[in-house]
Amino acid sequence: MKRRKFMTSLGMGATAMQLGWLVSCSSEMLEEEFLIAAAKGGGGKPSGGSKRNPLHIPNLFSDTQLNAGIYQADIGGGKSSRVWAFNNSFPGPTIERSRGESLEVTFNNNLVDESIVHWHGMLVNHENDGHPKFAVPPGGHYDYNFTVDQRATMNWYHPHPHGKTGEQVNMGLAGAFIIRDTEEQSKQLPSGAYELPLIIRDVSFDRQGDLEYKPRSGGFVGKTYLVNGTLEPFIAVDRAIYRLRILNGSNARIFNFGLSNNQQFRLIGNDGGLLESEVSISSFVASPAERFDLLVDFRNVNAGDSVMLHDAFSGWDVLEFKVGTKSVNTDVPSVTSTVPSLGTPVRERAFSFDGMSKINGQLYEMDRIDWEVPFNETEDWIFTTNGNAPHPVHVHGAYFQVQSRNGGRNEVYPWETGWKDTVLLEDGETVRVRIKFDSPETQGGTYLMHCHKLEHEDMGMMANFKVLRETT
Ligand code: C2O
Ligand code: CU
Ligand code: CU
Repeated sequence: MKRRKFMTSLGMGATAMQLGWLVSCSSEMLEEEFLIAAAKGGGGKPSGGSKRNPLHIPNLFSDTQLNAGIYQADIGGGKSSRVWAFNNSFPGPTIERSRGESLEVTFNNNLVDESIVHWHGMLVNHENDGHPKFAVPPGGHYDYNFTVDQRATMNWYHPHPHGKTGEQVNMGLAGAFIIRDTEEQSKQLPSGAYELPLIIRDVSFDRQGDLEYKPRSGGFVGKTYLVNGTLEPFIAVDRAIYRLRILNGSNARIFNFGLSNNQQFRLIGNDGGLLESEVSISSFVASPAERFDLLVDFRNVNAGDSVMLHDAFSGWDVLEFKVGTKSVNTDVPSVTSTVPSLGTPVRERAFSFDGMSKINGQLYEMDRIDWEVPFNETEDWIFTTNGNAPHPVHVHGAYFQVQSRNGGRNEVYPWETGWKDTVLLEDGETVRVRIKFDSPETQGGTYLMHCHKLEHEDMGMMANFKVLRETT
């Protein structure tokens, strides 16, 4: 019964959102309507014989230089496309570090605009956080050096220059950043070829087949999709349990993922690592920058069958799993972890996401600090919006725990439990999160809170706050 209610509210969300798009973009309305209709007509039925492209898995980063530049990328099917990328890799190379290891890297800006790299989800000091005021001009470079000291999860990295983030991410500058730790290792989760990082995003191409960024104030809407930079991908899988590490790398698009055979996912983690206990779900809503750690069991799928990762909002089958004959019968015991309570909040702060460019009535300004947060004190932050949602709200420098959502969808979903750094705020919703800045490195630093719909962020829906030093 509980599940039925959950499914119903999801379905309603989808309809409202698609209507929202159709109503809000008058000039592109026809196009959008056409795309939705086309997607609905074409989607759904898994077909093993389709001409899909093999899924690309980015190489691991093993360098000291991270070069942002303009490159040609093979996006599948023999198509070469001009992209902006890190180290000629689209998406960027996957950075992997164990807790306690450090990342020492020089970012080299070979783009035509200023840029700086932010490590989304990493708890690092101000100088390493990629604040837009550290943006370097074309030809410039910036040195990073920090120790990874946080629990295992999948984060990501992307540019953060003010007013240019949307374009640079959309043109291809983004990569995964995987953190390992001993707790996660003890869970015997699928690894190697059985663990798949999946950066899923929408995209548009120009006549030449090159990536094209045509933003609109309501958010970039791409005509098709890429997974790890591959158009219409497939991957050959064994009859085994796989670990999917999904990141919605879109500027603005929200997905509602499920599997075409209606099989359930085991949701084991999200932005900030493992959940307190895994939960089985048949679909989930993914807004920009959110991560999902999932186990998918293909052991009972017939060899030769295909299972699609399907987005119910667009109708796209974003990834085809072609199940082969090899069986791997290893089970993964039920996954649990510890998510400590943050205690009773000592104060509340209210933030209204106004229109498409303001927080509490103000546009972003590089040098204005809007509030100060005492180190190591628990606070509740309350997010509301007066319209123009969805706003995926993201905070730098700490993870938070979602307490409640009132109005709108009126519930906290299983994938919003545990530790989050991004939470989706829809029209009519009030979302309360509990947060404590207790990572020692953050003391004295300036951090950002912003809408992760990158067009909103670029227009000014972002704010600086300062984490105060601990007083003894
Ligand atoms: Cu992923 Cu401030 O950003
Ligand atoms: Cu971030
Ligand atoms: Cu927004």
